[in-house]
Amino acid sequence: MAELLRHPRVMKKLQNGVREIAGNKVEITEDDLNGMKYLKAVIKETLRLHPPFPLLFRMSTEDKKIKGYNIKANTQIIVNAWQIGRDPKSYNNPDNYEPERFLNSDVDYIGNHFEFIPFGAGRRRCPGIQFAAMVSEIALANLVFDWAVPGGLGVHDIDMTESTGVITQMKYPLKAVAIPYLG
Ligand code: HEM
Repeated sequence: MAELLRHPRVMKKLQNGVREIAGNKVEITEDDLNGMKYLKAVIKETLRLHPPFPLLFRMSTEDKKIKGYNIKANTQIIVNAWQIGRDPKSYNNPDNYEPERFLNSDVDYIGNHFEFIPFGAGRRRCPGIQFAAMVSEIALANLVFDWAVPGGLGVHDIDMTESTGVITQMKYPLKAVAIPYLG
Protein backbone atom coordinates (compact mmCIF):
# COMPACT_ATOMS: atom_id res chain seq x y z
CA MET A 1 0.00 0.00 0.00
CA ALA A 2 2.86 2.38 0.79
CA GLU A 3 4.47 1.81 -2.62
CA LEU A 4 1.09 2.26 -4.32
CA LEU A 5 0.48 5.54 -2.53
CA ARG A 6 3.97 6.67 -3.52
CA HIS A 7 3.32 5.71 -7.15
CA PRO A 8 -0.09 7.11 -8.18
CA ARG A 9 0.50 5.99 -11.79
CA VAL A 10 0.72 2.37 -10.64
CA MET A 11 -2.28 2.77 -8.33
CA LYS A 12 -4.39 4.17 -11.20
CA LYS A 13 -3.37 1.34 -13.53
CA LEU A 14 -4.14 -1.19 -10.80
CA GLN A 15 -7.56 0.36 -10.14
CA ASN A 16 -8.39 0.26 -13.84
CA GLY A 17 -7.27 -3.37 -14.12
CA VAL A 18 -9.32 -4.43 -11.10
CA ARG A 19 -12.44 -2.45 -12.08
CA GLU A 20 -12.30 -3.76 -15.64
CA ILE A 21 -12.86 -7.26 -14.30
CA ALA A 22 -14.82 -6.68 -11.10
CA GLY A 23 -16.94 -3.77 -12.32
CA ASN A 24 -18.83 -2.23 -9.42
CA LYS A 25 -18.89 -5.39 -7.29
CA VAL A 26 -18.74 -4.48 -3.62
CA GLU A 27 -16.53 -7.44 -2.71
CA ILE A 28 -13.97 -9.10 -4.96
CA THR A 29 -13.65 -12.85 -4.54
CA GLU A 30 -11.16 -15.54 -5.56
CA ASP A 31 -12.98 -16.15 -8.87
CA ASP A 32 -12.37 -12.57 -9.98
CA LEU A 33 -8.60 -12.78 -9.53
CA ASN A 34 -7.72 -14.90 -12.57
CA GLY A 35 -7.64 -12.16 -15.18
CA MET A 36 -6.04 -9.56 -12.92
CA LYS A 37 -2.55 -9.69 -14.42
CA TYR A 38 -1.46 -6.26 -13.27
CA LEU A 39 -2.53 -7.01 -9.70
CA LYS A 40 -0.33 -10.11 -9.71
CA ALA A 41 2.57 -8.04 -11.10
CA VAL A 42 2.08 -5.48 -8.32
CA ILE A 43 2.27 -8.20 -5.66
CA LYS A 44 5.42 -9.63 -7.25
CA GLU A 45 7.11 -6.25 -7.52
CA THR A 46 6.30 -5.56 -3.86
CA LEU A 47 7.72 -8.90 -2.77
CA ARG A 48 10.83 -8.23 -4.86
CA LEU A 49 11.58 -4.89 -3.19
CA HIS A 50 10.21 -5.70 0.26
CA PRO A 51 10.47 -9.43 0.95
CA PRO A 52 8.87 -9.85 4.41
CA PHE A 53 11.39 -12.60 5.22
CA PRO A 54 14.58 -11.11 3.78
CA LEU A 55 17.18 -13.59 5.01
CA LEU A 56 17.06 -17.34 4.40
CA PHE A 57 18.97 -19.69 6.66
CA ARG A 58 20.68 -22.90 5.66
CA MET A 59 23.42 -25.20 6.94
CA SER A 60 25.78 -27.04 4.60
CA THR A 61 25.60 -30.81 4.92
CA GLU A 62 29.01 -31.59 3.37
CA ASP A 63 32.31 -29.90 2.48
CA LYS A 64 31.87 -27.99 -0.79
CA LYS A 65 33.79 -25.59 -2.98
CA ILE A 66 31.59 -22.80 -4.36
CA LYS A 67 33.06 -20.09 -6.60
CA GLY A 68 36.52 -20.65 -5.15
CA TYR A 69 35.38 -20.66 -1.53
CA ASN A 70 35.79 -23.76 0.60
CA ILE A 71 32.60 -24.21 2.64
CA LYS A 72 32.94 -26.74 5.44
CA ALA A 73 30.12 -29.05 6.43
CA ASN A 74 27.80 -27.64 9.13
CA THR A 75 28.50 -24.03 8.16
CA GLN A 76 25.60 -21.66 8.78
CA ILE A 77 24.74 -19.90 5.51
CA ILE A 78 22.55 -16.82 5.27
CA VAL A 79 21.11 -16.06 1.84
CA ASN A 80 20.16 -12.42 1.35
CA ALA A 81 16.91 -12.62 -0.64
CA TRP A 82 16.45 -8.85 -0.24
CA GLN A 83 19.72 -8.10 -2.02
CA ILE A 84 19.10 -10.77 -4.66
CA GLY A 85 15.82 -9.02 -5.54
CA ARG A 86 17.73 -5.77 -6.16
CA ASP A 87 20.59 -7.20 -8.19
CA PRO A 88 21.24 -4.97 -11.25
CA LYS A 89 22.45 -8.07 -13.12
CA SER A 90 18.88 -9.42 -12.93
CA TYR A 91 16.79 -6.23 -12.99
CA ASN A 92 16.88 -2.93 -14.88
CA ASN A 93 16.59 0.02 -12.49
CA PRO A 94 16.37 -2.43 -9.59
CA ASP A 95 15.47 0.19 -6.97
CA ASN A 96 12.50 1.48 -8.95
CA TYR A 97 8.99 0.25 -8.25
CA GLU A 98 7.86 -0.93 -11.71
CA PRO A 99 5.36 -3.82 -11.70
CA GLU A 100 5.49 -3.83 -15.53
CA ARG A 101 8.77 -5.74 -15.33
CA PHE A 102 6.74 -8.84 -14.35
CA LEU A 103 4.02 -8.48 -17.01
CA ASN A 104 5.72 -10.21 -19.91
CA SER A 105 8.03 -12.32 -17.83
CA ASP A 106 7.75 -15.91 -16.65
CA VAL A 107 9.71 -15.13 -13.47
CA ASP A 108 7.68 -16.43 -10.55
CA TYR A 109 8.14 -16.75 -6.80
CA ILE A 110 7.70 -20.49 -6.53
CA GLY A 111 11.42 -21.04 -5.98
CA ASN A 112 12.52 -21.95 -9.52
CA HIS A 113 13.87 -18.53 -10.44
CA PHE A 114 16.78 -17.81 -8.17
CA GLU A 115 16.75 -14.07 -8.93
CA PHE A 116 13.39 -13.78 -7.13
CA ILE A 117 13.03 -15.83 -3.94
CA PRO A 118 10.69 -14.03 -1.49
CA PHE A 119 9.35 -17.44 -0.44
CA GLY A 120 12.75 -19.13 -0.45
CA ALA A 121 13.72 -22.06 -2.66
CA GLY A 122 14.41 -25.76 -2.44
CA ARG A 123 12.95 -28.27 -0.05
CA ARG A 124 12.52 -25.79 2.79
CA ARG A 125 10.80 -23.12 0.73
CA CYS A 126 7.58 -21.69 2.11
CA PRO A 127 4.75 -24.25 1.93
CA GLY A 128 2.19 -21.43 2.20
CA ILE A 129 3.00 -19.78 -1.16
CA GLN A 130 -0.34 -20.36 -2.90
CA PHE A 131 -2.35 -19.43 0.18
CA ALA A 132 -0.25 -16.32 0.87
CA ALA A 133 -0.44 -15.16 -2.76
CA MET A 134 -4.20 -15.64 -2.94
CA VAL A 135 -4.89 -13.87 0.36
CA SER A 136 -2.60 -10.96 -0.61
CA GLU A 137 -4.29 -10.66 -4.00
CA ILE A 138 -7.82 -10.67 -2.57
CA ALA A 139 -6.89 -8.21 0.17
CA LEU A 140 -5.24 -5.80 -2.25
CA ALA A 141 -7.98 -6.08 -4.89
CA ASN A 142 -10.46 -5.01 -2.21
CA LEU A 143 -8.34 -2.02 -1.20
CA VAL A 144 -7.80 -0.19 -4.47
CA PHE A 145 -9.78 2.91 -3.60
CA ASP A 146 -8.24 6.33 -3.95
CA TRP A 147 -6.03 7.01 -0.97
CA ALA A 148 -4.48 10.11 0.52
CA VAL A 149 -1.83 10.75 3.14
CA PRO A 150 -3.33 12.57 6.17
CA GLY A 151 -2.00 15.61 8.01
CA GLY A 152 -1.26 17.74 4.96
CA LEU A 153 1.63 15.50 3.97
CA GLY A 154 2.39 14.43 0.39
CA VAL A 155 3.01 10.90 -0.87
CA HIS A 156 6.75 11.56 -0.95
CA ASP A 157 6.70 12.17 2.79
CA ILE A 158 5.92 8.50 3.43
CA ASP A 159 8.87 7.14 5.36
CA MET A 160 9.87 3.80 3.84
CA THR A 161 12.46 2.97 6.52
CA GLU A 162 12.17 -0.69 7.44
CA SER A 163 12.51 -2.11 10.93
CA THR A 164 15.29 -4.56 11.67
CA GLY A 165 14.45 -8.09 12.67
CA VAL A 166 13.69 -11.47 11.14
CA ILE A 167 10.46 -10.18 9.59
CA THR A 168 10.52 -6.87 7.75
CA GLN A 169 7.91 -4.24 8.52
CA MET A 170 7.68 -0.51 7.99
CA LYS A 171 9.41 1.19 10.91
CA TYR A 172 6.69 3.86 10.97
CA PRO A 173 3.30 2.30 10.20
CA LEU A 174 1.60 3.69 7.12
CA LYS A 175 -1.21 6.15 7.78
CA ALA A 176 -3.60 6.61 4.87
CA VAL A 177 -7.14 7.87 4.37
CA ALA A 178 -9.48 6.09 1.96
CA ILE A 179 -11.50 8.21 -0.45
CA PRO A 180 -14.78 6.48 -1.38
CA TYR A 181 -15.12 5.42 -5.04
CA LEU A 182 -18.34 6.82 -6.45
CA GLY A 183 -18.21 4.94 -9.76
C1 HEM B 1 3.56 -13.21 1.92
C2 HEM B 1 3.50 -14.19 2.81
C3 HEM B 1 4.66 -15.13 3.10
C4 HEM B 1 5.99 -14.99 2.82
C5 HEM B 1 6.72 -13.85 2.11
C6 HEM B 1 6.64 -16.19 3.32
C7 HEM B 1 8.00 -16.44 3.19
C8 HEM B 1 8.62 -17.54 3.71
C9 HEM B 1 10.04 -17.79 3.61
C10 HEM B 1 11.05 -16.89 2.91
C11 HEM B 1 10.30 -18.95 4.24
C12 HEM B 1 11.68 -19.63 4.39
C13 HEM B 1 11.92 -20.41 3.09
C14 HEM B 1 13.31 -20.93 2.91
O1 HEM B 1 14.10 -20.97 3.88
O2 HEM B 1 13.66 -21.33 1.76
C15 HEM B 1 9.04 -19.46 4.75
C16 HEM B 1 8.89 -20.64 5.45
C17 HEM B 1 7.69 -21.11 5.88
N1 HEM B 1 6.45 -20.58 5.65
FE1 HEM B 1 6.06 -18.84 4.68
N2 HEM B 1 5.69 -17.02 3.87
C18 HEM B 1 4.47 -16.42 3.76
C19 HEM B 1 3.27 -16.92 4.16
C20 HEM B 1 3.09 -18.16 4.71
C21 HEM B 1 1.80 -18.75 5.02
C22 HEM B 1 0.46 -18.09 4.71
C23 HEM B 1 2.05 -19.96 5.59
C24 HEM B 1 1.10 -21.01 6.11
C25 HEM B 1 -0.19 -21.04 5.85
C26 HEM B 1 3.49 -20.12 5.66
C27 HEM B 1 4.14 -21.20 6.21
C28 HEM B 1 5.51 -21.38 6.24
C29 HEM B 1 6.18 -22.50 6.91
C30 HEM B 1 5.52 -23.63 7.67
C31 HEM B 1 7.56 -22.33 6.67
C32 HEM B 1 8.70 -23.24 7.16
C33 HEM B 1 9.02 -24.26 6.08
C34 HEM B 1 10.22 -25.14 6.45
O3 HEM B 1 11.05 -24.71 7.26
O4 HEM B 1 10.35 -26.25 5.90
N3 HEM B 1 4.08 -19.03 5.10
N4 HEM B 1 8.03 -18.59 4.41
